[in-house]
Amino acid sequence: MSDTHPVFPPAGFAKQVHEALKAWSADASAGATLADLRLVQMELAAGAANPRRAVNNVLLRALKTLAATHDRDADLLRMRFLDDLPARSVANRLNVAEPSVYRWQNQALDRLAGVLWQMETAAIEQRAAVLEARLEPASYLRLFGVETHQAALLEVLFSDEAPFLLAIEGGGGIGKTSLADALLRAVIRQRPDGEVAWVSARRQRLDFSGRIHSLHQPVLTVDALLEALVVQILPGAPLFTAPERAIAALRARFARQPALVVVDNLETAADVDSLLPVLRQLANPAKFLLTTRYSLYGESGVFHFRVPELNEPDALGLVRLEAEQSNLPELSRADDAELHPIYETVGGNPLALRLVVGQTHVHSLHGILADLAAARGAPVESLYDYIYKAAWSRLGELPRRALLAMPLVTERGGSLDYLAQISGLERGQLSNVLAELVTLNLVDGHGSAVTERRYTIHALTRTFLLEQVARWR
Ligand SMILES: Nc1ncnc2c1ncn2[C@@H]1O[C@H](COP(=O)(O)OP(=O)(O)OP(=O)(O)O)[C@@H](O)[C@H]1O
Ligand SMILES: [Mg+2]
Repeated sequence: MSDTHPVFPPAGFAKQVHEALKAWSADASAGATLADLRLVQMELAAGAANPRRAVNNVLLRALKTLAATHDRDADLLRMRFLDDLPARSVANRLNVAEPSVYRWQNQALDRLAGVLWQMETAAIEQRAAVLEARLEPASYLRLFGVETHQAALLEVLFSDEAPFLLAIEGGGGIGKTSLADALLRAVIRQRPDGEVAWVSARRQRLDFSGRIHSLHQPVLTVDALLEALVVQILPGAPLFTAPERAIAALRARFARQPALVVVDNLETAADVDSLLPVLRQLANPAKFLLTTRYSLYGESGVFHFRVPELNEPDALGLVRLEAEQSNLPELSRADDAELHPIYETVGGNPLALRLVVGQTHVHSLHGILADLAAARGAPVESLYDYIYKAAWSRLGELPRRALLAMPLVTERGGSLDYLAQISGLERGQLSNVLAELVTLNLVDGHGSAVTERRYTIHALTRTFLLEQVARWR
């Protein structure tokens, strides 16, 4: 919290401070008012024997701070509560009437509450900064269209119950990492006493000039995962001689404090099948939020969240903000009709939308959309490569055939029967193939009953199939 904004304690806080002072000499079993304060949690973590003692330590520190500006207030409170002197004796000592002692005491309590609240706010801020330093810098200024996803996911993340493994799934550039980042930041703000960790398995990055950068970090393995977690959650712990020991130490820590761990781009890990059992061992009560391009539908007990494309208003909102940031005033002030062709060509993939705006610096909007529609030019080809190459290369002959039939499907989607007809694949076979394509987030399936189920592809996938793949083959 910045110094320029005075922070006032919530209503009733001074009363709680009063209660806590009255309990100064109570024993540990009496419970402790103010035990929820971050300051008290810190005292406990630093070795205070019980919450009562921890609260007293915090009160002592606050009294000392108060004494620096209001010496007599601090003295009065010490006499009344630490030395447990009756108001009458305090009145005698200070040579004032007894009712004055009570008035004065109330004022002193208000001041002490103010001091304590400021200490608390600073402590929370400091802790949040420590936790936020474990994240990567946020790649966005503002996220569009994520509020409802965020609210739904936060509810699951804050619940003490299963699911403990959550997967944010979707194709390249759809916004998985950004959503995980926003969630983690929200969790830190709401629960600075908890633990968070961020483990990245990312291999590549695409910049908005259309260059793919290889990230020189080792492929994520079980050992690398554990090491990353130990560094963040158990800093200063001695080296663990075996993975089991690291797992046990992390579990012990997670049992004491709520924790949320993100594993970003799980699909690029060396061996997802050996990582998942370790994640399961570490989870509960800790929660693990995974981002992955390939859905984990086969895994039991995993909560799936598939990131949808941005709708048109959000997509255009992103284009305008991006244009404003890139100093493209014409584009940022263009009306919906003028921007509509962008949505028509690109759809609601935020990465592609940002790349289009980035390219508009160099080419006209018309030119870049034409390039995109024709999969032409180095930046556009990089975009398609970045988003689709890995998934495409995993596909066998039949899934490729089914996928290549998808551009014939209308916006409403194609049924299994229709797709069987146009792809020439047998219905049963096609059903399996489509399941695989949905898992790889290349195709979206809507509706649950097999007969009513409809399959669609994103606008960008359509262009990729019609233009880029045609050239690869
Ligand atoms: N909802 C959104 N609003 C605005 N910008 C977004 C949104 N989601 C993502 N972005 C931006 O789009 C780009 C791609 O997003 P992000 O990296 O989160 O995608 P991803 O799904 O994690 O991709 P990958 O599969 O490559 O890891 C980023 O620059 C991000 O800031
Ligand atoms: Mg990502």
